[in-house]
Amino acid sequence: MATGIQRNVTTERPSATPSVVNVCGLTRRFGEREVLKNLDLEIAAGEFVALLGASGCGKSTLLRILADLDRDISGEVEVPLRRSVAFQAPRLMPWKRVWRNVVLGLPDAPDRKRAIAALDEVGISHRADQWPKVLSGGEAQRVSLARALVRQPDLLLLDEPFAALDALTRIKAQELVGELWQRHGCAVLLVTHDVEEALLLSDRVLVMKDGIIAHEERIALDRPRDVADPEFAALRGRLLSWLGVRHGRHEEAA
Ligand SMILES: Nc1ncnc2c1ncn2[C@@H]1O[C@H](COP(=O)(O)OP(=O)(O)OP(=O)(O)O)[C@@H](O)[C@H]1O
Ligand SMILES: [Mg+2]
Repeated sequence: MATGIQRNVTTERPSATPSVVNVCGLTRRFGEREVLKNLDLEIAAGEFVALLGASGCGKSTLLRILADLDRDISGEVEVPLRRSVAFQAPRLMPWKRVWRNVVLGLPDAPDRKRAIAALDEVGISHRADQWPKVLSGGEAQRVSLARALVRQPDLLLLDEPFAALDALTRIKAQELVGELWQRHGCAVLLVTHDVEEALLLSDRVLVMKDGIIAHEERIALDRPRDVADPEFAALRGRLLSWLGVRHGRHEEAA
């Protein structure tokens, strides 16, 4: 286990890259309980960042704040105007057809062409006229991604988007997110419990603990990444230690 010093990690990034997320001294309380404690976070434009941490440590709380779904905070939070969020459950409206779900909430009149283009990107435009209830879990999650991407976000917030998927669908969904990120060039903050997923996709992996970003790892490995690479294994071991999991134990225990 690395040191238990309680401090926010200072993020190093190339000074030429502008940041799209700037969080400084963020605190969020629920009653007596301080879940986020003076948290600092910076995310560069186009950067893929994964956020790990024990259950209940405040990952979703942070994501909801960045998505502007929670304003009961103190501290400074700067996020881009164009941001999208996708959750573990796809949260599709059952009374609207798939394509209408994709463009739901956009300021203009529902644009079928635009919805189909987004659905096409995630390989599911053939389901455009279906009702959400007939979709599989993986298909519904793709629609949720299409809905996030149709907004052309500068920041994409993903809260355990693959957690409910079976292993094979999950691998495909991870690959899809990696491809979409490379194509769109938006910054991504992905909350996950899966250390391997974080290492396969991210430029940087953060560990939240005691209400702050307690540790970060920059992932300089070339893509696509190989889980058998000794460097990959070393990073995985280090992150598992930070999560309080002994090497060799199953990662979902984090
Ligand atoms: N609206 C709320 N009212 C009271 N407590 C809340 C509220 N939202 C979150 N909490 C508490 O804040 C803490 C952090 O919750 P959060 O959902 O952010 O955890 P998490 O890290 O996302 O956990 P998980 O990995 O299980 O999803 C938890 O103890 C939770 O009970
Ligand atoms: Mg959560």
